[in-house]
Formats: sequence, structure tokens, C-alpha cells
Amino acid sequence: MRIQIVSPDKQDLQKLQTLYKLVAIQGNGIIRNEKEITQDYIKGFMEKSLKDGLMLLAKKEDSSIIGEIHAYPSDIFAFRHILSDLTIVVHPDYQGRGVGRKLFGQFLNAVKEHHRHICRIELYVRAHNHKVHAFYKSLGFADEGHHENKILTGELTFETPIHMAWFNPCFDLHKWSKQNFGHSEKKITSKKRLTNHKPCFRNQPFNSFASCARTTTRPGLTRTGHAMKVPKKTITT
Ligand SMILES: CC(C)(COP(=O)(O)OP(=O)(O)OC[C@H]1O[C@@H](n2cnc3c(N)ncnc32)[C@H](O)[C@@H]1OP(=O)(O)O)[C@@H](O)C(=O)NCCC(=O)NCCS
Repeated sequence: MRIQIVSPDKQDLQKLQTLYKLVAIQGNGIIRNEKEITQDYIKGFMEKSLKDGLMLLAKKEDSSIIGEIHAYPSDIFAFRHILSDLTIVVHPDYQGRGVGRKLFGQFLNAVKEHHRHICRIELYVRAHNHKVHAFYKSLGFADEGHHENKILTGELTFETPIHMAWFNPCFDLHKWSKQNFGHSEKKITSKKRLTNHKPCFRNQPFNSFASCARTTTRPGLTRTGHAMKVPKKTITT
């Protein structure tokens, strides 16, 4: 099966609603029921993702959509470096055939390459959904804790999801400034503030450092010349 990973356009709205409904009916995945998959919901995340987040579709040759992934930053200034509530769905008939891994891989590559103002990506996974949890771990997401009784299901039982985060090895504070202030931080803050900046590399798997050659001027140093908290193993790879 040949699939293409592409950006969405407005005509995809209806097809996306159908896809999300199918996945919601399947249950045990996305934290929304079928009735909540309204056109407004789809339109809402499309607009926010296209404005300053990221959204990708997996399309077959006949242009049907079999997968989608999106995330976007909050309006809150202090959280503008985060893409949160990441959601990924694959059409039930195409699950387990590599579509999700391909979509997610390209999503993370796009963040590393074109969204260097983003420091972290966050998502929730149901604790009992071991396959999906392992999938996210394999992509470099780290557990950040169980959110006790966060989900109240349609059967009136509680579920405890795990909060997970991925850290962008290519995060660049100047890009963040440009994105949020329209110009580089160097022009607007003292040198002191800049040197206080701690690189956002916590919990990053070893191989992710190697995959962002542009981040470091030389091994173990950030672009601003500060030592990275990088395990020795990373520097030698
Ligand atoms: C979770 C989901 C996006 C994964 O996409 P996918 O295309 O089925 O996954 P892939 O075939 O690319 O496989 C990726 C990994 O996911 C695991 N996996 C997770 N859910 C799976 C499923 N329902 N079927 C098969 N594999 C699944 C596989 O073990 C696989 O690991 P491997 O590559 O080491 O073998 C997709 O199954 C889905 O949409 N599920 C329902 C909605 C959902 O749970 N969304 C996530 C909300 S947090």
C-alpha cells in the first residue's frame, strides 16, 4: 500500500470527521466519544494546528484519508513552547500496518526541522493501552506520571492515563523569540537572561541528539555555547 504524508486543506474537514467517528466508535483510543466528534471539534483543532501548530494526514493514492496527527500550542504565553494534547488516529481497517509510525516519524521530523521554537510535545495515553504506550516510548516519549482518575468513561468508571512528553533536540530559544515576539531574543533581553537559559534536552533518548546536527556548534555544546546535560554515550555517537 502506498501512502503519502501531506498537509491538510479545508476540503478534508468532512473526511476527517468520518475518520474520527470511526476511531471513536472503536473505543479505547482517543479520549472522546462519537457524539463529541462534531464538525466544530474537527474545525477547531484544524484551525489551531494550521495557525501555529502542526497537522499531517496519511492519504492513499485515491486521496482517502487513513490517518491524521495534530498538536498545537496553548494561548498561554508561558506554554507557547509546548505542543500539547497531541492526537493521532489511524483508520481501524489500516491499523497495525505502519501508518501510525510513519505519520508520527514525519511529525517529529517536521518539528525538529521547521518548529525549532517548540521545546516539548505532550500527550496522554491510557495506562492499560500497553501497545500504544510502548509505541510512544519507542518514539522517544518519556512518562511524566499517572493522572489519577482523570478520565471518567461512559460506563461511569474512572481511568488513569499516563502523561508523556518528548523533548525537541533542535529547540532554539531565538526561534521561539522570533515566533512569539517577531524578533530574536538577543535584541530584547540582556545577555544575563540568555545565559540563564537551560537547554530543553531532558529525557531525550540518545539517538535524538545525533539527529539534530544543526543544534550544536560542537559536541556537548549548545548553539549559545553552554554545556548540554548529555550522557557521555551521546557525545561519542
Ligand atoms: C495508536 C495508533 C495511532 C497506531 O497507529 P498504527 O498505524 O496502528 O500503528 P503502526 O502499525 O504504525 O505500529 C506502531 C506501533 O504501534 C503499536 N500499536 C499500537 N496500537 C496498535 C493497534 N491498534 N494495532 C496494531 N499495532 C498497534 C504496534 O505494536 C507497533 O509497534 P511496532 O512498530 O514496534 O510493531 C492506531 O492504532 C490508532 O489510531 N488507534 C486508535 C486510536 C488511538 O489509540 N489513538 C491514540 C490516542 S492516545
